[in-house]
Amino acid sequence: MSNINVLLLGSGGRESALAWKLAQSPLLGKLYIAPGNGGTRNYGTNVVLKPTDFEAIESFVAANDIDMVFVGNEDPLVAGIRDYMAEKCPSLLMVGPSKAGAALEGSKDFAKAFMMRHGIPTAAYRSFTAETIDEAFAFLETLQAPYVLKADGLAAGKGVLILDTIEEARESLREMLGGMFGASSATVVIEQFLKGIECSVFVLTDGKDYRILPVAKDYKRIGEGDTGLNTGGMGAVSPVKFADKTFMDKVEERIVRPTIDGLRREGIDYRGFIFLGLIKVGDEPMVIEYNVRMGDPETEAVMLRLDADLLALVKAAAEGDLGDLQAPHSAQYSATVMAVSAGYPGSYAKGKEISGELNPADSIIFHAGTAIDADGRLVSAGGRVLTASSLGDSLEEALAKSYAALSHIEFEGKTSRSDIGRDVLSL
Ligand code: AMP
Ligand code: GLY
Repeated sequence: MSNINVLLLGSGGRESALAWKLAQSPLLGKLYIAPGNGGTRNYGTNVVLKPTDFEAIESFVAANDIDMVFVGNEDPLVAGIRDYMAEKCPSLLMVGPSKAGAALEGSKDFAKAFMMRHGIPTAAYRSFTAETIDEAFAFLETLQAPYVLKADGLAAGKGVLILDTIEEARESLREMLGGMFGASSATVVIEQFLKGIECSVFVLTDGKDYRILPVAKDYKRIGEGDTGLNTGGMGAVSPVKFADKTFMDKVEERIVRPTIDGLRREGIDYRGFIFLGLIKVGDEPMVIEYNVRMGDPETEAVMLRLDADLLALVKAAAEGDLGDLQAPHSAQYSATVMAVSAGYPGSYAKGKEISGELNPADSIIFHAGTAIDADGRLVSAGGRVLTASSLGDSLEEALAKSYAALSHIEFEGKTSRSDIGRDVLSL
């Protein structure tokens, strides 16, 4: 099949990078992005649709001869978009797991129990509700500081609290079970704190076989030196030397294979991406979390290194047979640096005009929170505004290109971290 018409759901830098890569495929017919952003229209057509409005998506699919829905963000997956479309439009190709598979991200309690069932290395844990709060207090006494509390459900990346003292842990536990994150924290996972360096591994699966994409590291905190509040991500680099062949072999054997086999054995229909949030403890990989989609901003770094036709790969995965398709990647380094609005991740202004070089020779600018305003101007429309992503023969070179590219773009309040990648230059 060629001339595949694709509807990509999402609006972030991740979807910009996915759209950019899909647009290079000779298999692509029309590309629609819903809702997209001020930059995705460079690769396809933006459509005003909410990714969680399944009925509207179903109508759009029928009216526009859509062959594939590629789900960029987790919300529609956790809400069961794959199951809905499988019933309403059985011939539609879906990139993303069923609701049961999406529970790997949608419920931390489910994900932890899944890992326990399949012997996948992860921090020791227990789950509690308001009814079992006294048991939770007792469990906290058995742990060492710091204490890790996780809201079971989706909480926009804010549902993990790490507390230094047991008093703070008790207080936060009370607040979480009392509705701090609404229904998402009606169950709270308490787990052992793991010390190590983190990386992100992306796996594309057809439900039985898999391909591992380039490994990356993201930078979550707002401040230099990884300090301050958590954000959606301030930058990413790929690869990281500490995730060497020995480490990645362990990841494949102990985590990737048991995950794919476990899903299959449990009868869970999983065709799409699995994002392993890993931590290297000593020399051993352990799972911090699963996500059921690609990472943001890791995708903006990883797509530059993928030397394969993304559309061919996701089509094969969605059809349930990756066959002989490989996912080779470039030996070069890539670096992504995010420009955010002043004040983010707290409150920030929107509607600031963006100017400067948006098509630099040595980098790619992926839009995240951008929009075209009523006067046709490109303006900021979110906390994370845009990224510069670049390849280089060294990480230093890739970083230098991305920083240079960002320095030629202006908007009021433009903020970025100056230390992306610095911690791994020697690791
Ligand atoms: P999550 O939303 O599960 O990815 O957690 C957010 C962040 O909290 C992770 O990226 C880690 O930096 C940190 N974190 C989560 N779980 C643990 C743990 N068990 N030990 C240490 N840090 C953790
Ligand atoms: N960069 C982390 C995430 O996408 O969840």
